[in-house]
Amino acid sequence: MTNAATSAAAPVSDKDRVLIFDTTLRDGEQCPGATMTLEEKLQVADLLDEMGVDIIEAGFPIASAGDFEAVSLIAERVKNATVAGLARAIQADIARAGEAVRRAKRPRIHTFVSTSPIHLAHQMRKSEEEVLDIIVATVTQARNLVDDVEWSAMDATRTPIDYLCRCVEAAIKAGATTINLPDTVGYAIPDEYRAMFRTIRERVPNADKAIFSVHCHNDLGLAVANSLAGVEGGARQIECTVNGIGERAGNAALEEVVMAIKTRGDAVPFFTGVETTMLTRASKLVSAVTSFPVQYNKAIVGRNAFAHESGIHQDGMLKNAQTYEIMTPESVGVTKTSLVMGKHSGRHAFRKKLEELGYNLGDNVLEDAFRRFKDLADRKKDVYDEDIEALVDDQIHTIHDRVKLVSLSVIAGTHGPQRATIKLDIDGVIRTEEAEGNGPVDATFNAIHALVPHEATLELYQVHAVTEGTDAQAEVSVRLAANGTSVTGRGADPDTLVASARAYLSALNKLRARGERIHAQHAAE
Ligand code: KIV
Ligand code: ZN
Repeated sequence: MTNAATSAAAPVSDKDRVLIFDTTLRDGEQCPGATMTLEEKLQVADLLDEMGVDIIEAGFPIASAGDFEAVSLIAERVKNATVAGLARAIQADIARAGEAVRRAKRPRIHTFVSTSPIHLAHQMRKSEEEVLDIIVATVTQARNLVDDVEWSAMDATRTPIDYLCRCVEAAIKAGATTINLPDTVGYAIPDEYRAMFRTIRERVPNADKAIFSVHCHNDLGLAVANSLAGVEGGARQIECTVNGIGERAGNAALEEVVMAIKTRGDAVPFFTGVETTMLTRASKLVSAVTSFPVQYNKAIVGRNAFAHESGIHQDGMLKNAQTYEIMTPESVGVTKTSLVMGKHSGRHAFRKKLEELGYNLGDNVLEDAFRRFKDLADRKKDVYDEDIEALVDDQIHTIHDRVKLVSLSVIAGTHGPQRATIKLDIDGVIRTEEAEGNGPVDATFNAIHALVPHEATLELYQVHAVTEGTDAQAEVSVRLAANGTSVTGRGADPDTLVASARAYLSALNKLRARGERIHAQHAAE
């Protein structure tokens, strides 16, 4: 074993290239609470494309009008990646997916059907022969719409190998160009998964006509290990999500598979086209838009992933970073937390810092962000990169809001009830309201509710500190649910209550944009 940080010999042949298929916007978004708005999906898709992801699964077009619109818009704007739309083995699904990806430079239809006995008996209520007919019919239909068709055998890892071979052969014969064999329930272990791919590729006569793909769920914490084992078994596409979000325990984490391949090129002699210095940014964006926090000790992108706390480790690091570091923080896009600027920093320096952090803002947005930065620098002694990111993300997400916070004052303390007075700008009209509550956050939300009545229910209220210290900015997430959809709003401010009000308003604005019944009061009402 060598130290890959310095000595990994990169494999060069194209047959060693592993395609990265990102399904953050489909399998990731499918997990409860991770719903993203259209605007957020476009941001994620742009970043994935820029990062060099090969295939972006943009959604499940038949699922809703919103999903269809998101897949269509992503298909239109993505510059390099293939854009895939998911479809069950149903004619209407496939037609809808074909329509949604039609404008992509590289469109793909991804269709799937269950193949395991337990799914056939209890979910599909179909025989093996009937499912084989369905595979042929649906793959043929998809192939008549696009040249690039992926077929997935749902619950492949619990499917008898002889039957799986027949299904794969039929799908390839009908025109599938990628064959995905998912570990849908996260049940496999690496040796089995590797062996499954080897057997299928040996036994299926037309196996050389398709690319094989892994798709692993993390129920036993083995999704990444299984994905790499599948690649050893001959797969050349990994399906994964940023931060590993997804159904139940999630999917294989994109950043982990990519960095395992890059760092251990000696043992896993493959390569991907992903620009690894963008991994941290992608992780932060997905965490921000879904409000799923990244666990502190998460591999690659957790905030402790490169922190060395113990004396022995710190001593080693000072002498030579390779004593305890197998990859550099810079290689995944972690820049040293730097004291950026203070209240004397000018517009030019602020713009430069934003560019460094990967933001490219128009003049008006930049001007507003700069004003908020100055305000923050007046109130907070040290302004870090994370502070600027929180502030700008907040700014970007509220640009189109029709209900905005003007001011808030709260009376809190040991003698309740707590009282909040809030002033809002509602479609250009200033309205003020006062309310009591069981605590200052409750009072603040009650005051907002009085001005913006709605029937949505609060599913999540979450606060985290952006940096250390008691003057740190609070970043608050609020998730509201109405009529089966949930949206998440975020707000950042050194005052936790102001951040809470911003987050609540941001969620309400999102619901309003989706046409939910939010009755913002106008002066005339
Ligand atoms: O886990 C799974 O089997 C899936 C399929 C739809 C590919 O997500
Ligand atoms: Zn899945």
